[in-house]
Amino acid sequence: MKKFLWLFIPMLSGSPAFAADGEALHEANCTQCHDSSVYTRDDHFVTSRDELVSQVRRCEANLELTWFDEDVNAVVDYLDRNYYKFEKPSSQ
Ligand code: HEC
Repeated sequence: MKKFLWLFIPMLSGSPAFAADGEALHEANCTQCHDSSVYTRDDHFVTSRDELVSQVRRCEANLELTWFDEDVNAVVDYLDRNYYKFEKPSSQ
């Protein structure tokens, strides 16, 4: 049982070896066309978490990055937490 718990500690601490790092992904890929001010400008057009997922996919597809859902979700979480502050849907 003890061994089992230790295995999960790196996941809980968000180690990049196990979980996509939304902030790092964003820094590396998403700041060439716009900076983070588009997320907080008065007339920003993303107004729900679903729209945010769609927009991240759209921008990511423009870059031809072919991210996994995990990467998209990590960046959506990062943007939501730091800029948009939508509620997380209870289904997740
Ligand atoms: C090829 C250029 C380009 C890149 C690279 C890019 N975007 Fe965008 N993004 C745009 C454009 C253009 C808009 C629309 C800006 C506007 O309406 O003024 C936009 C808008 C957005 C918005 C909506 C802002 C709002 O109004 O609420 C989000 C969220 C966003 N981008 C996320 C991302 C993410 C995440 C990445 C990295 C995967 C990324 N973008 C990379 C071009 C890009």
